[in-house]
Amino acid sequence: MSNVVIVGTQWGDEGKGKITNALATCADFVVRFQGGANAGHTVTVNREPIVFHLLPSGISVPGVSCVIGPGVVVDPLGLVEEIDRVREAGISVGENLLIDVGAHMVLPYHKAIEAAEEERLGGSAIGTTLRGIGPTYADHTSRTGLPIGLLASFDAFRAAFETEATRKNEILTRLYGRDPLDVAEMLEILEAAAERLRPHLSDTPDILREALSQNRNVLFEGAQGTLLDIAFGTYPYVTSSFTSAAGVSAGTGVPPRMVGDIVGIAKAYVTRVGSGPFPTELFDKDAEIIRDRGAERGSTTGRPRRCGWLDMVALRYAVAVNGIRRLVITKMDVLDTFHRIPICVAYEIDGKRTETFPRTSEELRRAKPVYETFPGWDADTSGARTEAALPDKAMDYLRTISEMAGVEIAAVSVGAAADAVVEFTRIL
Ligand code: IMP
Repeated sequence: MSNVVIVGTQWGDEGKGKITNALATCADFVVRFQGGANAGHTVTVNREPIVFHLLPSGISVPGVSCVIGPGVVVDPLGLVEEIDRVREAGISVGENLLIDVGAHMVLPYHKAIEAAEEERLGGSAIGTTLRGIGPTYADHTSRTGLPIGLLASFDAFRAAFETEATRKNEILTRLYGRDPLDVAEMLEILEAAAERLRPHLSDTPDILREALSQNRNVLFEGAQGTLLDIAFGTYPYVTSSFTSAAGVSAGTGVPPRMVGDIVGIAKAYVTRVGSGPFPTELFDKDAEIIRDRGAERGSTTGRPRRCGWLDMVALRYAVAVNGIRRLVITKMDVLDTFHRIPICVAYEIDGKRTETFPRTSEELRRAKPVYETFPGWDADTSGARTEAALPDKAMDYLRTISEMAGVEIAAVSVGAAADAVVEFTRIL
């Protein structure tokens, strides 16, 4: 298989970045196909954690070309800052970064409008990352967005930006009662960012199709997770892009028949940041243990993550939506101290048991988890690097997940370090 899609099966933060980074040593290309700087992919480079928001998680691996595809929304100012930050950490960003000309730009007015809208929503806010993601995709769809290719000629960009920024200022002042943004000031900082990003602008679908036809190894790095997908997630508490595998073609220009195997990433438990239904959410001491042991705080916003037990109804749904055949289970070591581990095997909704994931958030909100409890392994798994080094009960937990999800478990991650993985089958 020359290309693999890495996709989150929960509400994001499953560890896609770490797995992508580990697999990148075998890849020629690592490609982001959706989302933007709302992602926070933490990888360990030279024993230090580093968070990538827009840069694909292969950027630290020499010889790998990293592509920001046309389905991604790019904050030019944030990307320049991120490039500077990772360079300080000794990572080189040059010809190894290709930004597709069709990727739409997140501009300062998108962030301002999002902040105003979330504040207006008050108690019913989505709890977004405030990275301007929703407003940028909305502009893209309503044909008022600005693709990053416009930066090739700053004069062309300036004209389009002035028109749109003036319109956005009307929305900010008239609808939200906010101060207008200073158009000239924004243009000045954007011009500096444009200079920096121009050398990276590229026609990436062509490059990727060519690479795939030559059987080069390509990793498609999903961001967020299936349950945050704009079409198949827990709408409206979702992000604004197609986070599931269906997003790969539209977000890269690679035809569907060329897309290879889909590998799902699932934490050994579940977390969620922001608002929205979460049937297995815990509010007791167990939630605190998971949050502490798993360092469950948003890597983009620093917000504490909501924590709960593994939800097989949701996981089976994600397997079905994406066509997943193999799963990687991450953060297994976080469960090391539990004597008993419940897994949600069904929901009870309005007194009826179901194993089907509801398609509306209203119904999901009424879902009560039905648990089966499994024995914990009560042992430190963080040093395990082989199947033999994993406790029997930990292997039983993995087998249970595999049987219930109807897919193979390809690997398990037992810590933040890049090598803290037990690989059962070769992924790429
Ligand atoms: P947005 O993507 O910033 O619009 O946020 C929409 C929803 O998706 C919010 O609930 C966010 O907390 C969530 N979200 C967005 N990106 C991530 C992520 O990378 N990990 C986890 N949750 C995310």
